[in-house]
Amino acid sequence: MRSDQIRQGRLAGERSAGLEHFLASMDTDRWIVEADLLVDMAHLLGLRQQGIIDEGPARALMAALLDLHDHGLPAEAFDERFEDIHAGKEACLIDRVGEDIGGRLHMGRSRNDEVATCIRIRLKQEIIALAGSLLDLRTTLLDVAGMHTETVMPGFTHMQHAQPTTLAHYLLAYEQAFSRDAARLREAYARVDVSPLGSAAFASTGFPLDRDYTARLLGFSCPTANSMDAVAARDFALEVLGDIAICMTTASRLCEELVLWSTAFIGFVDLDDAYCSSSSIMPQKKNPDVAEIMRAKAGTATGALAAAITITKGLPMSYNRDLQELTGHLWRGVEAARESIPLLAGMIGTATFDLERMAAEAGRGFSTATELADVLVREHGLPFRTAHRIVGRAVRHGSLDLATLEAAAQEAAGISVVDLGVTDERISAVLDPRHAVSVRTIVGGPAPAAVAVQLEEQRRLLDNDATWTEETGAALSRAHEDLISESRRMIL
Ligand code: ARG
Repeated sequence: MRSDQIRQGRLAGERSAGLEHFLASMDTDRWIVEADLLVDMAHLLGLRQQGIIDEGPARALMAALLDLHDHGLPAEAFDERFEDIHAGKEACLIDRVGEDIGGRLHMGRSRNDEVATCIRIRLKQEIIALAGSLLDLRTTLLDVAGMHTETVMPGFTHMQHAQPTTLAHYLLAYEQAFSRDAARLREAYARVDVSPLGSAAFASTGFPLDRDYTARLLGFSCPTANSMDAVAARDFALEVLGDIAICMTTASRLCEELVLWSTAFIGFVDLDDAYCSSSSIMPQKKNPDVAEIMRAKAGTATGALAAAITITKGLPMSYNRDLQELTGHLWRGVEAARESIPLLAGMIGTATFDLERMAAEAGRGFSTATELADVLVREHGLPFRTAHRIVGRAVRHGSLDLATLEAAAQEAAGISVVDLGVTDERISAVLDPRHAVSVRTIVGGPAPAAVAVQLEEQRRLLDNDATWTEETGAALSRAHEDLISESRRMIL
């Protein structure tokens, strides 16, 4: 194939392989190859519709584009002497149909609007795929939660036993977070869904392009409103990376639970062997490697966001080549989430929870002390602060039996809880972790009835997100299929 057709006019001289590699985006461009061919087809249909290109060359170009679409780009199109796939593909077209035809596709277009359009197309597909994985993960969390509304376990603050809750309440906390992560991505989609095509280098073009038409062909909601913004903006990428970094942070926190819960210290969960690795020296080891690597992927995603946002902050209008370096970070973040979320669903769905261990720990560390203080308030009229001090003092003395509580009340508040009518029977009933859970019936609480409401509401949100994901994904695929059919019609 010929040499780089873009340098020929203005620049001279040879470049070293190292220099070519430094400038090239070929590796990251693999993410946008399919999108780029769609962009070419839409642009060509647009040129033809506006009478900017004659029928003969348009048909020859379209035939060559469809051939590349059907059979893939040749390896030489990715040669780093072309710097990027846009130039590599154009060289390939010119090679196949000659410059008189192949040299007409780039009328009214720049790689600046081309690449921005390609990134948005691929990113829309990735958002839909990720939203789909999140649907599966949320379904799994809701299903497992639904089986454990009565499974009492300890909840923690500061990693110390705090108050009893249920496994359902615990898992629903994560599901809530993932449903917000999904909502953020869904909102970002609308801002990704605008077409830069027709903005050319930045100042648009004197060719009478119909930007609405090409936007529609490519499945975008509309064209971008300002051609300079169109090529310069990457806030849509930063936003999605931010959403991904947040989502992966949620995933990382859940992974951290699984790592902790699977230790012999805690022993709440046994992960399926598929998600674990062993040791090359310690034959007994079962390590939660998938959860660990996923925790690290959250670091990768956050690093990608940090890199991308830092690359952007110093850039004046409009396109600057720095933006090429940003794109790789975008895909790194996308890939971290794309690989992780389905595995997390699998890991949760196949985990075995040790209900006895959870129940045994639920009441440890005086975890029901709050409930005892609450009873002193509710049933015996004490101010909460006084009840809190009495119970705290009893815990300091190492027991919450009536004798210790009485001594603590005398010592810390100068009152007698026996005189107030507190009995040993009432204390033991109140200190049962199941009791503490059962009275927390208010909105958001862990009592089974309150959790049932949360489950129902989250299933409703999930159904709504499932409809959006399915409809949006189908509409996008349909648009792209229609574009290819329309392109094939041109050469009939
Ligand atoms: N490879 C480039 C990128 O990813 C495409 C746009 C190149 N534009 C240019 N003026 N060199 O940003």
